[in-house]
Amino acid sequence: MFKIIICLLLITTTQASSSPYWGLTTKPSFTSITRATSDIAYSYNIKTDTCATLTSASINQIVAEGKVGIKKGATDKLLPMAINTWNFPDSNAMAWHILNQSRGGVRQTRNAVVEGITKCEQLQCDLAVGYGGTPDEQGETTLDSMVMDGAAMDVGAVAGLRRIKDAIRVARHVLERTEHTLLVGDSATEFAISMGFRSESLVTPKTKIIYKHWKAKNCQPNFWRNVHPDPKTSCGPYEPTATPLTHRKEDRARTEHQIGAQHHDTIGMIAIDVDHQIHAGTSTNGLNHKIHGRVGDSPIAGAGGYADNEVGAAVATGDGDIMMRFLPTLLAVEAMRNGKSPAEAAEVGIRRIRKHYKTFSGAVIAVNRLGQYAAACHGMREFPFVVSNPTQAIHVETVKCLPPEPSVEVVPLTKQT
Ligand SMILES: *[C@@H]1O[C@H](CO)[C@@H](O)[C@H](O)[C@H]1NC(C)=O
Repeated sequence: MFKIIICLLLITTTQASSSPYWGLTTKPSFTSITRATSDIAYSYNIKTDTCATLTSASINQIVAEGKVGIKKGATDKLLPMAINTWNFPDSNAMAWHILNQSRGGVRQTRNAVVEGITKCEQLQCDLAVGYGGTPDEQGETTLDSMVMDGAAMDVGAVAGLRRIKDAIRVARHVLERTEHTLLVGDSATEFAISMGFRSESLVTPKTKIIYKHWKAKNCQPNFWRNVHPDPKTSCGPYEPTATPLTHRKEDRARTEHQIGAQHHDTIGMIAIDVDHQIHAGTSTNGLNHKIHGRVGDSPIAGAGGYADNEVGAAVATGDGDIMMRFLPTLLAVEAMRNGKSPAEAAEVGIRRIRKHYKTFSGAVIAVNRLGQYAAACHGMREFPFVVSNPTQAIHVETVKCLPPEPSVEVVPLTKQT
């Protein structure tokens, strides 16, 4: 019993060079309270009443819950790291190139995320990022993007950005040169031009063809409901119907027929340096045939991405209209703050959404501040992502998605006690 007092004294008075990780670990063999920085930790083992000093390797061992995608024995070489959604290796390579230059890419995480994602915008990753993809109902491509600094808790974002190719670089200007968080539409374009960006059409011969085919198919699919003429068979312009509104449950076409995994390949990226400095970023051109003006989850902090140096970060991709109603990346970071592993944290938002939207498709990547990572997904067979850290450069991994949930009743909180 005497030992716990000494241990707790050590635990609470140790000078931390960076913000410490607190952990309560329960395993069959032991329960311990740990306070760790990147290089030192004291751990009190409740079962054996012992106090131990831990090396960084064993700290990582304790935090690792076995579900994280790292090889045994490599847990002390997790930083710096860059991770991104989907099989977009060129973006990861660009971010890794920046992080692996100087000592652990210190203070390079913003460059890594912005330039890594810029690479995807330039390559038009899956035609889902950057110019020349997913024409909206007016045949135009518009861009949504965000970058978040997990030290300053500062965000720069643009939504519905028109006629500018470099969405995340503009978002960076919002972060660095304004006190705002989000600029939209034509006004975001004006801001970008004033910051020296070139205004040019984002339409390409390919988007023109996609748009023409959609028009020829009576504008199917589209995202309207409760309007006439019937949006399931006719193009607009639409007017509101006088008949009673149909509800979401009767309106299954959206998730079941209109949106497949290939239609929402948003890039989300997280970079962490050896000092545990974290940035997260996103970029997308949204959904094919979206209603002009539609903005998805990507530029919204807590929805498309979230970062907090004290804990870690998360990024999301998928059916943004649905996912943004649940702030899954905020949920993931808060779950890790409460001691959940990255694997558990990534699942929290996915499970919450699945309860309400049984066929939604999407994925979340969660990374703790030590560089341990995991992903969870739903509505697809599997979800690929790319990781770089000192033990593995530009490494593609896939995670199997959660199965559809057997019918679960949504119980209002007041009935639970
Ligand atoms: C990082 O850069 C160093 C020096 O250029 C190189 O030797 C090393 O292989 C790189 N690490 C990875 C994982 O790419």
